[in-house]
Amino acid sequence: KASLLRKIGKYTLLSALGSLVAGTGYVSYKLYKEKNPSPQLPQAATFDNGSPRKTLVILGSGWGSVSLLKSLDTTLYNVVVVSPRNYFLFTPLLPSTPVGTIELKSIVEPVRSIARRAPGQVIYYEAEALDVDPVEKTVRIKSVSSDDGNAESDLKYDYLVMGVGAQPTTFGIPGVFENASFLKEIPDAQEIRVKVMNNIEKAANLSVADPERKRLLNFVVVGGGPTGVEFAAELQDYVDQDLSKWMPEMSKEINVTLVEALPNILNMFDKSLIQYAEDLFKEEKIDLRTNTMVKNVTPTTITAKCGDNTEEIPYGVLVWATGNAPREVSKGLMAKMETQNSRRGLLINDKLQLLGAEDSIWAVGDCTFYPGLFPTAQVAHQEGEYLATVLKKQHKIDQHKWNMLQNPNAAENLKLQSKIDKLQSNIKAFKYSHQGTLAYIGSEKAIADLAVGESKYQSAGSVTFLFWKSAYLAMCLSFRNRVLVALDWCKVSFFGRDSSV
Ligand code: FAD
Ligand code: NAI
Repeated sequence: KASLLRKIGKYTLLSALGSLVAGTGYVSYKLYKEKNPSPQLPQAATFDNGSPRKTLVILGSGWGSVSLLKSLDTTLYNVVVVSPRNYFLFTPLLPSTPVGTIELKSIVEPVRSIARRAPGQVIYYEAEALDVDPVEKTVRIKSVSSDDGNAESDLKYDYLVMGVGAQPTTFGIPGVFENASFLKEIPDAQEIRVKVMNNIEKAANLSVADPERKRLLNFVVVGGGPTGVEFAAELQDYVDQDLSKWMPEMSKEINVTLVEALPNILNMFDKSLIQYAEDLFKEEKIDLRTNTMVKNVTPTTITAKCGDNTEEIPYGVLVWATGNAPREVSKGLMAKMETQNSRRGLLINDKLQLLGAEDSIWAVGDCTFYPGLFPTAQVAHQEGEYLATVLKKQHKIDQHKWNMLQNPNAAENLKLQSKIDKLQSNIKAFKYSHQGTLAYIGSEKAIADLAVGESKYQSAGSVTFLFWKSAYLAMCLSFRNRVLVALDWCKVSFFGRDSSV
């Protein structure tokens, strides 16, 4: 019996050691591959047959554009990426950053490192696209890194991909831009953190009876979509799990309020999950104000309509998350084209071609509007991957067209034309495959509305939170991001969140 136990012990130890060695080897290999990309092929102006290499300009470095860049055979085009942000941002974990559950550096990946891993050279301009001329096929860009404030230039394209995303909408409600913080980009998360931490310190200097102290500690989130809900949940977690240890009295005075115009929050989820989330918010003491529509914002108060009543809600920090509106560059392009008559975004067809410029412009992600395609990372990611396959076929079509021009032989041209027709008919419409929707709702609980084929599954709670974590780890853009995010979660579970600014 003793020798059997010894044997079991020996094999367990050996397999643990083996797993450790294999795991370390795998991690080292992945890190080495990320740090040492394969050499990029130099891009000549023409291909071997003399045909010019077409210029593909990609606007943006978000979910749509980066997914395209990662899947694209960049040796087929002169690929130029233009984005004012020189990194990709993993938005699903952005609500975790203002309170320090996740570090900002863990969820960004530099554009240059993504571009360097592509097979063919990619040029990147840290610039904002100001205007697109679909007739001349040019984009006016303005450098954001140049010392010269007016560093504008024109970029010629053969093909253009609009992947500029959207900006937060305020529905023109007075005072929002001036007083609220949004949660869309890295500087937004930094701003919210500074405001929250400063308010806590400011309030600590005031007496408990001072109404200003109460106002400073009222954190209001407007918009009960997933952004607002996830942020409110993270904020309450920070108060309950961390601040309560360092400032136990003050943590009890902090009030997190979530304001939503509709009767429920998280309206894209199944009713049972909405109920679960609302019940949990009540338990967590998040003040949920549904059927409450904000009408006006001043530096200290929001005015909201609740049925026939008008309510004044004093706030210390206001986070605004009421959805998306088109960016200026998209609006400018829409204004130039008669077919672009929607205020919700760039109109595209089922092949993601821009209506009115089908031969040269595609658009992906949040800057577009197409029924049934929602502004989510999942949609933008799949669109980017789809477009990479389309651009591969487009290259072949262009090659055949070039060969037709070089070869005036009618019989040959007929054959080439039939190849072109076949390739064109091979470009199928984009088909979105919905995998489901996840949201973190606080207290280490999440909700999941999953789609497997035609079937739908709902789950909620702590196990769903583990699923949420693993799904987001798997979705991270790079191996480096994955390791950093996992380490952040471990760090918080051992040492708590950091309260410094
Ligand atoms: P973005 O990712 O926003 O990228 C737009 C890019 O364009 C950026 O690089 C920007 O710098 C650049 N740009 C802007 N203006 C210009 C210009 N003038 N010229 C050139 N470039 C420009 N979706 C999910 O599916 N699951 C989630 O869990 C989830 N969580 C989210 C959490 C938050 C806090 C937010 C804000 C969104 C979340 N989303 C989520 C939605 C998701 O982030 C978006 O749908 C997705 O980012 C859209 O991708 P995109 O490429 O269209 O735009
Ligand atoms: P949203 O459009 O999903 O929700 C905005 C909410 O604000 C709506 O419920 C709306 O009724 C409410 N609202 C609008 N005006 C208001 C007012 N004046 N007063 C009070 N409430 C008001 O916006 P959100 O959350 O910013 O998300 C944008 C997109 O990103 C969505 O497509 C969403 O699905 C996606 N996203 C997905 C996530 C996930 O899957 N976990 C996380 C975050 C965003």
